[in-house]
Amino acid sequence: MKIINNKKKTGATFTPELLANFLVNKLLQYYKYLSYTSCVLDPACGDGALLVALYKKGKVASSNIIGYDTNNTYLSVAKQCIAEISHNNDSQFYNEDFLAVCPNNQDIFSTNIKREFADLIIANPPYVRTQVLGAEKAQQLAKDFNLTGRVDLYYPFFMAMTNALKIGGILGVITSNRYICTKSGSDIRKYLLKNYHVLEVIDLGDSKLFDAAVLPAIFIGIKKNPSEKSEVTPKYTSIYETAPTNNTKLAKSIFEVLNDDKAGVFNVNGTFFELKKGILRQGTDKSGIWQLDDNKNSSWISKIETNTSCRI
Ligand SMILES: C[S@@+](CC[C@H](N)C(=O)[O-])C[C@H]1O[C@@H](n2cnc3c(N)ncnc32)[C@H](O)[C@@H]1O
Repeated sequence: MKIINNKKKTGATFTPELLANFLVNKLLQYYKYLSYTSCVLDPACGDGALLVALYKKGKVASSNIIGYDTNNTYLSVAKQCIAEISHNNDSQFYNEDFLAVCPNNQDIFSTNIKREFADLIIANPPYVRTQVLGAEKAQQLAKDFNLTGRVDLYYPFFMAMTNALKIGGILGVITSNRYICTKSGSDIRKYLLKNYHVLEVIDLGDSKLFDAAVLPAIFIGIKKNPSEKSEVTPKYTSIYETAPTNNTKLAKSIFEVLNDDKAGVFNVNGTFFELKKGILRQGTDKSGIWQLDDNKNSSWISKIETNTSCRI
């Protein structure tokens, strides 16, 4: 009960089990190198929902599970949950600010800073406008991570997680979907395209999979060398509520819809959702907004691009 009250006070929104399993399954589908020696990290692990879902797949050793959280109460729950299912107390949980553990600006004299140690990162970091943390902290974060404009806490988290990930390692993260198409997200879009082979982006839209105040999205990518060109064509999926059509399929849950191979309109317990599937189109330059390019959208987007004489 106490932890539920705490969650409300701090605005922390934990990942429900079904969504945690969905993300874990996606990561295992893409990343074939996971083994007992792999190091897995959740940099803002809360009560450990994502690490527990991953551990339950039987592919990782409890001693190679690493979790960070600034909230010690949540962290104790995470520690206890992993210890109960692994019958071991050897996971590594740290009550530290992850942004200070893997910052962008490296103080060469600091021994606490860690780099490129994780093979797999799974996360649902906080989504909070940094201004809410106070002007001083907001300015410090913007400076440390070289970010301008409206900064949300998951932007520096994207960067700190990248600092923690080995080249060739995989990142699977749930954030707000706002960075996909807002001006303030341009730095982060550019950063992600530069540092990752982007495998898949899933805009979970208004599917209300959990109790967050934002519309969530999943990003999955393999870390690459920034100078390496990506040959991967990223998949893009989106799901939004829609009006009923004549051609709807029945589905038991949003996850059944998301796992369907074909786009379409689905009836989930009387609510209708449109699933769109295509590839990620990034606009004219690396900071351009991300759009879903399916057969329907692509001719429309190409038409606009052909008829565009200038951009403001
Ligand atoms: C959205 S919750 C998600 C928790 C968990 N990853 C999950 O999926 O259920 C975000 C968590 O980030 C933690 N947090 C906030 N700022 C942090 C920071 N600077 N470093 C580490 N953890 C932080 C909060 O205490 C909270 O538990």
